[in-house]
Amino acid sequence: MTHAGAGQPNASRHLLTIEGMSREQILMLLGRARQFKSALDGTDRFPSPLAGRVVVNLFFENSTRTRTSFEMAARRLGAEVVNFDIPSSSVKKGETIEDTVETLGAMGPEVIIVRHSAAGVPALIARHVRGSVVNAGDGSHEHPTQALLDALTISEQFGRIDGVKVAMVGDILHSRVARSNLWCLGALGASITLVGPTSLVPDGLADVPWGGGRTARVCHDLAEGIRGADVVYLLRIQTERMKQAMFPSVGEYRRLYGMDSQRLSHAGPKAVVMHPGPFNRGIEISGELADSDRSLILRQVANGVPTRMAVLATLAEGARR
Ligand code: NCD
Repeated sequence: MTHAGAGQPNASRHLLTIEGMSREQILMLLGRARQFKSALDGTDRFPSPLAGRVVVNLFFENSTRTRTSFEMAARRLGAEVVNFDIPSSSVKKGETIEDTVETLGAMGPEVIIVRHSAAGVPALIARHVRGSVVNAGDGSHEHPTQALLDALTISEQFGRIDGVKVAMVGDILHSRVARSNLWCLGALGASITLVGPTSLVPDGLADVPWGGGRTARVCHDLAEGIRGADVVYLLRIQTERMKQAMFPSVGEYRRLYGMDSQRLSHAGPKAVVMHPGPFNRGIEISGELADSDRSLILRQVANGVPTRMAVLATLAEGARR
């Protein structure tokens, strides 16, 4: 859905990044997601643009919620879903990703949903298949549908995104969710503060122009960083992406950056907490706060299905044009 540059896969057929998407393209997808959500909530029947089509879930990295969410979205649109089982696949037998994907592509799927631990693999795959590719998370790079469902959740809560103050707390360095949200929420006019230890929130992140050309503020003190925030967005420490320990101990991280109801009082009076999951109770968020009415975590999960329906339906229509 982004504009293709030279040597890039045909991006209007794929959803690989939020980077490069315009505010209008994002708002169009959010509008469609809202329509699908009210159709799911109501008794209206909605069209089945993927009836008789095959959607492949190609997950090289473990996932429960994202894969299930894509699967539900695709089924709601009438598709048949094939979960390509990586551990038992030929990839483990030495086949290259390109060959595996060309084999899969020969079966003619309409959409391939890809998650991989290396940045750029969904874009690589997009060059080798005729169907559309959706990036469901590539390394520390991007996770576009997570950002879209987060934007939907924030706009439902506040009636707007423009001017909403979002503090993202935790392992920004390794977070594809943070990166996609910086592009998406920036393009929609939110103001963003990145909070965490210097090892996980390097000062240089403040120099990057994100969505809408906006820069984020960087802050290493929790109370100061979330002051006045409308949304406190917590992230998991992604130890699986670290080559060495990047903070002294989990106990120290919790003491300095763990969020609970009392600490949340430093934020705005109506502040809510969000988290893409999976969350670690008692580390980045207290169990009591996660279960409280200040938490939008389950709403985020619920919004994943209509958001992914909007993406799949839009790509399917684009591919047929
Ligand atoms: C995130 C991911 O996998 O990028 N989770 C998700 O998709 N809901 C964040 C994480 O793993 O911490």
